[in-house]
Amino acid sequence: MPATRLDGKKIAAEIRSEVAADVESFVAAGNAPPQLAAILVGDDPASQVYVRNKERACEKAGIASRLDRLPASTTQAELLAKVAELNADPAASGILVQLPLPSPEAGGTGIDERAVLDAIDPIKDVDAFSPVNVGLLMQGRPRFLPCTPHGIVQLLSRTNISTSGKHVVVVGRSDIVGKPMAMMLAQKDSTCGPETANATVTLAHSRTQDLAEVCRSADILIAAVGRPEMIRGEMIREGAVVIDVGINRVDDRLVGDVAFAEAENVASAITPVPGGVGPLTIAMLLHNTLMAAKMQAAGN
Ligand SMILES: NC(=O)c1ccc[n+]([C@@H]2O[C@H](COP(=O)([O-])OP(=O)(O)OC[C@H]3O[C@@H](n4cnc5c(N)ncnc54)[C@H](OP(=O)(O)O)[C@@H]3O)[C@@H](O)[C@H]2O)c1
Repeated sequence: MPATRLDGKKIAAEIRSEVAADVESFVAAGNAPPQLAAILVGDDPASQVYVRNKERACEKAGIASRLDRLPASTTQAELLAKVAELNADPAASGILVQLPLPSPEAGGTGIDERAVLDAIDPIKDVDAFSPVNVGLLMQGRPRFLPCTPHGIVQLLSRTNISTSGKHVVVVGRSDIVGKPMAMMLAQKDSTCGPETANATVTLAHSRTQDLAEVCRSADILIAAVGRPEMIRGEMIREGAVVIDVGINRVDDRLVGDVAFAEAENVASAITPVPGGVGPLTIAMLLHNTLMAAKMQAAGN
């Protein structure tokens, strides 16, 4: 029997309407609407689309958005000044610097991405990239959770897939997806409760030996590699749950990191690409922006 498709789009819509309802009560209680302040440096077409999608999603949830467009020639000092301006602006609840910053080949000035992310006030760090928020997550007392792994926890919880006591293999160790994903599932508790935590986690990467065998030992396999269809059917244990984070453009199609047609015949449940993890990332960004506004309103 082919695997159940885990409908990320539907779950993201659920979360977005929950956030919208919560924003409405927050505003009805006399607060200014939350605002997401995005900074876009340069004119990378994919980044422009991502920022536009985030703006639209904000609008639908009753969250205000502000976009500062800066030219590719912006220097690090200029970008840091913009971040400082938004840190000091009480209207900006959350700050997001759209990545990647333009490379020197694309007219960029060689800005140190880390220095810019570090400069965002941790209370406005809705992407959860700042060392303070990463540290809090590591210690099991998170403030903001990074959007993509948090979206995956929500997806697992809302489809009644427990990770407790299971062997989860995460392939990919980026700071944005793989590393925080592994950390979140290894904790004793999650925002959705202990059933979507308490996993035994293996974090695999490009130096992992016999990746296929490691993947086959997973009850839940999470692929965040950025290589189209790298995870083949024979790397998946019969009945495993497969979460495909990859978004890769091949010709005119978007494909994941998992060979979907093969995986579907082996797995018990699987996220499609598109329509799986992707929509959840934006939903969790809205959630974080509202959380930021609430914390700031409460003077935290
Ligand atoms: N759905 C969403 O909302 C969303 C959000 C973010 C990212 N993504 C997508 O998810 C994918 C991963 O993104 P990312 O930012 O995490 O990527 P990244 O920063 O490029 O990291 C890729 C990771 O994969 C590992 N890797 C590369 N080749 C491998 C191989 N042959 N075998 C095993 N591991 C290998 C790398 O290992 P090393 O560390 O050893 O180099 C690295 O840890 C991309 O397709 C991206 O577009 C989707």
